[in-house]
Amino acid sequence: MAVTLAVKLLFAICIIFCTSAFQAMSRTLNAATIAGTHEKWMEKHERTYADDAEKQKRFKIFKENLQYIESFNNAGNKSYKLGLNKFSDLTAQEFIASYTGLKISNLPKPSKVASFGPLNLDEVPKRLNWTEKGAVTPVKDQGKCGSCWAFSTVAAVEGITKIKKDTLPSLSEQQLVDCVTDNHGCDGGSADYAFQYIVDNNGIAKEKDYPYQEMQGSCQSVSSTAAQITDFMHVPADEEQLQQAVIKQPVYVAISVCDDFYQYQEGVYSEHCNGQLNHAVTLVGYGTTDDDGKKYWLVKNSWGESWGDNGYMKLLRDSGIPGGLIGIARGASYPTIDN
Ligand SMILES: *[C@@H]1O[C@H](CO)[C@@H](O)[C@H](O)[C@H]1NC(C)=O
Ligand SMILES: *[C@@H]1O[C@H](CO)[C@@H](O)[C@H](O)[C@H]1NC(C)=O
Repeated sequence: MAVTLAVKLLFAICIIFCTSAFQAMSRTLNAATIAGTHEKWMEKHERTYADDAEKQKRFKIFKENLQYIESFNNAGNKSYKLGLNKFSDLTAQEFIASYTGLKISNLPKPSKVASFGPLNLDEVPKRLNWTEKGAVTPVKDQGKCGSCWAFSTVAAVEGITKIKKDTLPSLSEQQLVDCVTDNHGCDGGSADYAFQYIVDNNGIAKEKDYPYQEMQGSCQSVSSTAAQITDFMHVPADEEQLQQAVIKQPVYVAISVCDDFYQYQEGVYSEHCNGQLNHAVTLVGYGTTDDDGKKYWLVKNSWGESWGDNGYMKLLRDSGIPGGLIGIARGASYPTIDN
């Protein structure tokens, strides 16, 4: 009996000792590993720093992001996962300042507001994916330029062009960045002025005829346009209305990007923040997850294919929050083409 107790005690002590020794070891390992992870990350994303001070500063942010990502994912009780990506050495504030770019402006004219009536759940499809239907071009990358507004305007026009004209030209964001003088190029803009420009200009050029430069330049004249629109409509700030709009076509949506949004990797993003609308993306569908029946919106972003889920994101749908999670229903609009 006494012997067993002694053995048990010894065993217990050993376990405590072993765990703490192991923890100490893994802490030192961790510091070295994080530095190694940072080096590999720099190589992968071709990131260089001006000097050692800059590298130390960026390493510190990278380390904090990595630790946050690990503890978030290990907590294991969220519907989405975070991950390293090309933005991992930036703080959320730095990121938002450089890579978003939505400015809500006064409307250029009394704009029309769509009204779809109440949603009839028996009649609408349970899931929808415009990418699968061939109405979405490959994910593009706005780079370090606040031109999100141009990318989601273009994606919405590409979508309706496929639906109405059965052709999917990749269209020019740069033309909007350079030529929509009511917007602010890489310093942000809104869909209203961008759609209005395309109406007034009798169309928009192909991407390859007016390629993206990641900076604002002077407006070039182009000999031909590849897509035209007649007008544009706003969607009332309500997720049922938004669902009916996206059943018709891909939709320009404004959202409020904050906190860990830029580190999203996969799953259904469910973190709400009530900030101002500061980013524009394209709503291209919706669905429900197979494993736990979570309703989501399917969103195409403009931060390259390496961001998020191959450049896309799933965002919690019907969250009960007025205007939707991160405001997804608050600033939605879509272009129209008269037959
Ligand atoms: C998930 O974990 C966090 C952190 O431990 C906790 O604050 C939160 O209440 C948990 N949520 C659920 C639904 O368990
Ligand atoms: C949407 O369709 C694309 C193309 O078929 C596919 O790669 C993607 O996984 C689909 N997304 C969802 C959420 O169904």
